[in-house]
Amino acid sequence: MWQPPQRIPFKAAPGRIPTREEAEASRLFSPLEAGPLHLTSRTWVPAMVPWRADAEGNVTDAVVDWYARLAEGQPGAIVIEATGIRDLPSGPLLRIGHDRYVDGLRRVSEAIHRHSEGRTRAFVQLIDFLAVKRRPQRATYLERFLRLAERHRVALGMVGADDAAVRSRLATLDDATLQAVLDAREWEALQMGARERVTDVGLAHIRDLPLHLPGLFADAARRAREASFDGVELHYAHAYTMASFLSATNARADGYGGSVAERARLPLEVYAAVRAAVGTDYVIGCRMLSEECIEGGSGIDDAVFFALKFAKAGMDFLSFSRGGKFDDAKQPKVGDAVYPYTGVSGYECMPSHLSDEQGPFGRNLEPTRALREALRDEGLATPVVAAGGIHNFEQAERVLADGIADIVGSARQSLADPGWWKKLREGRGATVRQCEYKNYCEGLDQKHKEVTCQLWDRVGLDEPGVMRSRDGRRRLVAPRDW
Ligand SMILES: Cc1cc2nc3c(=O)[nH]c(=O)nc-3n(C[C@H](O)[C@H](O)[C@H](O)COP(=O)(O)O)c2cc1C
Ligand code: SF4
Repeated sequence: MWQPPQRIPFKAAPGRIPTREEAEASRLFSPLEAGPLHLTSRTWVPAMVPWRADAEGNVTDAVVDWYARLAEGQPGAIVIEATGIRDLPSGPLLRIGHDRYVDGLRRVSEAIHRHSEGRTRAFVQLIDFLAVKRRPQRATYLERFLRLAERHRVALGMVGADDAAVRSRLATLDDATLQAVLDAREWEALQMGARERVTDVGLAHIRDLPLHLPGLFADAARRAREASFDGVELHYAHAYTMASFLSATNARADGYGGSVAERARLPLEVYAAVRAAVGTDYVIGCRMLSEECIEGGSGIDDAVFFALKFAKAGMDFLSFSRGGKFDDAKQPKVGDAVYPYTGVSGYECMPSHLSDEQGPFGRNLEPTRALREALRDEGLATPVVAAGGIHNFEQAERVLADGIADIVGSARQSLADPGWWKKLREGRGATVRQCEYKNYCEGLDQKHKEVTCQLWDRVGLDEPGVMRSRDGRRRLVAPRDW
């Protein structure tokens, strides 16, 4: 992953630890009531993919255990991982693209409700994404994947030559010459792996995304409701389809790209379809970017426009993240897929302990404040969720006291110690296991390996009943001694 060149080390600290009485009287542990959104506290675990579904995207015992453990911390809400809305093979990513997934997903919502003693609302993050291929071997790409066109023959001075001869010739070229023969997308497919974009309107399935996505999201949300989830979070952030529609890089000319209003059109149509499917008494929010953090990407002004539109349309919460784009991702190794958290925008999304002067804690707070202020200036009371490097009570309480957000999200700190919110609330903050922000968990996510935390995944491996990772070397759930 990219890191700021300054490489200034930062260490998360517990800050001032509240007594039980202080915690009980705090903003953080006060309830929130806003339309259908009822939270017992303003604490929130944002979506994190733990890679525990089976190859068909079904809930497994390991998925249930993972969320049950997080629920023991009794946060106000847990948003379960990005869950695919299509009925298409997508590896061990959880899926909600067919009614057959409902029973399995209900096990998750019920585990969250039961293990939190009813204190935690369970939401599911609904995701759509486009195809991303692994980086190919050079020879394989030139022999098999590259679709030959007349322009290749012209560039090589081989008009009339058969395919085999053209491919053999391409294989002999040095990189600079080959780059001049291929077009930009072909060169990218060779260097990074082929990746579809929402602007590839020459492909019927991409052109027709606006026809299909509202229905797909709506069906997924209906299933979430049937599976006893308390609401859905539409994934409009990071590197995926909906964020790509919102992106300033979206130049579609069919009314779904170009101006900010056109870029917001499909996300609004998706929301409207979801609302129509689940009714007004069900929680629908979205996760979106305050800034894309890429060259030529959307900035805070675009985000303000989108947030106002979504809030006016009736979304029940807005959760802000930043960055996490393919556009500036590092070149993957041959055989690996590009990972959208390896460039500067990836750092902004999941900043690690080696940082610049600003540090890794709270990099998205000022943009979040600006977004919330813009909402309030328009008389919109939509609750706002902040996240990014939040790891102690003082910090979380300040986010609320300063009017930056209404709800405090904490992903990696909750992974490091799933019980930490409850410990804080009960005055046991001194026992919280502090996240080190070295992103070992993110490295596992990148490889689609079961996500665990380096602070606990080798502890008590031989204890009875400890479920282990596929390689047998790590425990899958945090021990309960913290
Ligand atoms: C292992 C892992 C998986 C993640 N998966 C998702 C995801 O499915 N959806 C999402 O919106 N963000 C995802 N994120 C990003 C987090 O929700 C969060 O925005 C980010 O880690 C910054 O917050 P933090 O500093 O509290 O960890 C993931 C983060 C990690 C570490
Ligand atoms: S592995 Fe654990 S300590 Fe390290 S960043 Fe992830 S959650 Fe934090």
